[in-house]
Amino acid sequence: MISTTRPSGRPFPADFLWGSATASYQVEGAAQEGGRGPSIWDTFSRTPGKVLNGDTGDVAVDHYHRLEQDVAIMADLGLEAYRFSVAWPRIQPTGTGEPNAEGLAFYAELVDRLVAAGIKPVVTLYHWDLPQALEDAGGWTNRRTAYHFEEYARIVARALGDKVHLWTTLNEPWCSSFLGYGSGVHAPGVQDAAAALAAVHHLNLAHGLAARAVREELGAGTPVSVTLNLHVTRAATDAPEDVDAKDQIDMIANEVFVGPMLRGAYPERVFADTASISDWSFVQDGDLEIIHQPLTVLGVNYYSTGRVRRGTPPKGDGTPGPDGHRSSEVSAWVGADRVEWLPQPGPHTAMGWNIEPQGLVDLLLELHERFPGLPLAVTENGAAFYDTVTEDGRVHDADRVAYLHDHIDAVGEAMDKGVDVGGYFVWSLFDNFEWAYGYDRRFGVVHVDYDTQVRTVKDSGRWYRELVRTRVIPT
Ligand code: NOJ
Repeated sequence: MISTTRPSGRPFPADFLWGSATASYQVEGAAQEGGRGPSIWDTFSRTPGKVLNGDTGDVAVDHYHRLEQDVAIMADLGLEAYRFSVAWPRIQPTGTGEPNAEGLAFYAELVDRLVAAGIKPVVTLYHWDLPQALEDAGGWTNRRTAYHFEEYARIVARALGDKVHLWTTLNEPWCSSFLGYGSGVHAPGVQDAAAALAAVHHLNLAHGLAARAVREELGAGTPVSVTLNLHVTRAATDAPEDVDAKDQIDMIANEVFVGPMLRGAYPERVFADTASISDWSFVQDGDLEIIHQPLTVLGVNYYSTGRVRRGTPPKGDGTPGPDGHRSSEVSAWVGADRVEWLPQPGPHTAMGWNIEPQGLVDLLLELHERFPGLPLAVTENGAAFYDTVTEDGRVHDADRVAYLHDHIDAVGEAMDKGVDVGGYFVWSLFDNFEWAYGYDRRFGVVHVDYDTQVRTVKDSGRWYRELVRTRVIPT
């Protein structure tokens, strides 16, 4: 029996798309094969002290060499869509110039295998593995990176064409900018508030340029999205100063992306809150028009919620804070240095993140109210636990089953309330390289033995297969 807090048995429409997601650096391995150039995650993970246990993506789950087996697993689970990312340094080893045919061939083969198995390819163009050569020239703090990204997007669009079901420009640009250049807990590991804000804008610009380029290459009706990790933040109390602290986070964490991409404007408050850090002179005439491209669907990644109050937090030092996640990044809260993050009540996952399915209902409803005509998709949702294969050869991950059950039910609740949600992608298909946590935290619905690369479908994978087959949340 699943231990859940929400009702079972909720049916989903026949055209709702069930999928799973991964990202190139987290699963592929083969870091120095196929003509791939180095990325910022190669450099960062090899820098002592940056990733738990010194783990790197050199081998990961060896997906690069196991396409046939891995697509067969997806088919066995009944997946209708697979969300994966293209590694820019496989396509352009130094981020510019002639495409690397071997890199393109790898993704063309993956796409062909997916299509042959009846699985829709959902392609993310950027899931954090920036070519190192571009970082050497300033990375996302350099405006030119956005234009290089446009070129790269054109190359991939031409190569994979209309076999792709949905194009996604960026995955979680909040992480790329604030974790990559603000707190520095992600590659390239820069700690510079002004650099983080420049990266925000150049990522936004890269999104707009790439969205436009993909449609120029493949036709105006080509489905294009972006995936954001919008923070669901609660005010600790109703006191105006705490509500204001929450508003401040909503602006600097969410609205700096949602505003330009969906409304064509930055939130005014952010300029005021960050005035001592940056004059935002990197925003040039015409940029907002480029960024504000029509989206076919907005991708939403959701895991947990946060709680804030007005106060003076201790300086972030890179170690996990009380919420296991965001407090550790306090130094990244440029323009919100008087916002204090509080621990959230449990239960928590192995990431230390609280489990709160209601947050997903709230987020989907809020987006629907603000942007009524914009279809949504949950492009990531899932949970890390310390799974083991037991004597019966199975992985009994009841906590993950309960997590998925309750969050998928939350999606159903939002749909019942009128929100247009077209799909759900469980994070992740496989256990994989969880960034600064290395291989320590397992998110997969398929277990991977990192010594042997043996894949074992977990109970959650079996449960998900049943859901996809019946379109009813299993009890
Ligand atoms: C967000 C990221 O897109 C993904 O790469 C990461 O592994 C998961 N969430 C879990 O942290």
